[in-house]
Formats: sequence, structure tokens, C-alpha cells
Amino acid sequence: MKLFLDTGDVDEVRKAAEWGVIDGVTTNPTLIAKSGKGFRETVLKICDLVPGGAISAEVVATDYDTMLKEAMEIASWHEQIVVKVPLIEPGIRLVTSLAERGVRTNVTLVFTVSQALLAAKAGATFISNFVGRVDDVSGDGMEAVAATVDMVEAYGYESEVLVASVRHPQHVVQAVAARAHIATMPLGVMQQLFKHPLTDLGLKRFLDDWNKAGLSIFEPSGVA
Ligand code: E4P
Repeated sequence: MKLFLDTGDVDEVRKAAEWGVIDGVTTNPTLIAKSGKGFRETVLKICDLVPGGAISAEVVATDYDTMLKEAMEIASWHEQIVVKVPLIEPGIRLVTSLAERGVRTNVTLVFTVSQALLAAKAGATFISNFVGRVDDVSGDGMEAVAATVDMVEAYGYESEVLVASVRHPQHVVQAVAARAHIATMPLGVMQQLFKHPLTDLGLKRFLDDWNKAGLSIFEPSGVA
């Protein structure tokens, strides 16, 4: 499964990129606004920090003609950019025409398998299925993810299912169980993936034993 970082903060991208485990970055208008920096400059810096990664940048118009203009502008900035498009009628029309032009798309704000079907048929590269926002209103966001993965596989669509609106590590575990292709998450959630109390405890015991024995990796005898 691919891991994407969900942020508009260049410093967060720099930090996660050092681990070598991120395959892309997703932004949205809220995250870009929060960054306090320009859209183009932020997205281009992110492209540099994650060479070869898929970097999603979203259109903000809601009528087809302006969405197309915005999409072509955003796509012209860098070959790594994937144009993010909301699941509305002009959005699906836009995905169809961008697919014909060879521009990759990420259809966002997808909550149901019926919406995902439209995105897959239009030729979306990624389908961003939001889970946290559904869980927030007492639903089960992961249900639609599992159904969407099944749908894409059963009919042989090329779209990859991207689990978005991830709030905690259990969402990542559930995304794996649903065989989702990608999960995108904030830096804080990605950092939580490292954590287990037995890892900390085990490491402490290893190092205490090592230090008590006075061992050294760099001494010729292996003993300090
Ligand atoms: C990513 O593409 C989405 O925009 C993002 O995951 C939404 O997350 P939120 O529901 O926490 O705002």
C-alpha cells in the first residue's frame, strides 16, 4: 500500500520524506490556506521534496470551464502534479476530459461507492474516499472504502482507492484490511504508526544490557 502525507506544510513534508516511505502528498484548499504560503510555490517545493511522488493540488472553481482552466494551469506546473477535483457534476466531466488529455486526477470528497463508480468510469487516477468525516457523524467510513476496492477490482477499473480523512493508526490498519491502494494521513498520524510501548521497552532493555556489559561496536575487541 502506498503512503501519502496529507499536508500543505513544507517542513512536515521534508521531515517525512527523510524516512523514505512516502509515495506522495495530498493537499486541499484548507491545508494550503493553513500553510500561509502561495499555492504554486508550496506545491512546487513539495514536488522537489518527494521526487517522483504523486502530489495532489486541488481546483477551486465549481463550473466546468473555469475548473478546466485551473486544472490545466495547475498541471502545467510540474509533471508530478495530480489535479484534485471534487465529486460534483462538472468535476466528473472535468475528470473525463483530463483523462483524455493524459492529465492525472484525484477525485475528492467521495463518500459512497456510487460516487466512486462515477469517478472510476470517468478515468480518475485516484479516488479519495473520506473516512474520518463519516466516523465523525457516527457512520462507518471504512465500509465505503471496502466496497469501492471490491468495485474497482470486480470491474477492472484502473483507479486506485485512496483512503483520506484518516484520523488515527486504526484507520490505516483498516485500510490495509480493505486492500486499499493508498492511505493519506497527517504527519501526526504517520508518527503514531511508529509507536508501540513494547518497542520502547524492548529497546531500553537491549541498550541497558549492552551498556552494562561495556560493549562497543567500534573497539577492535568489541569491548570498550
Ligand atoms: C485529503 O486528500 C483530504 O482532503 C483530507 O484527508 C481530508 O481530511 P480531514 O477530513 O481530516 O479534513
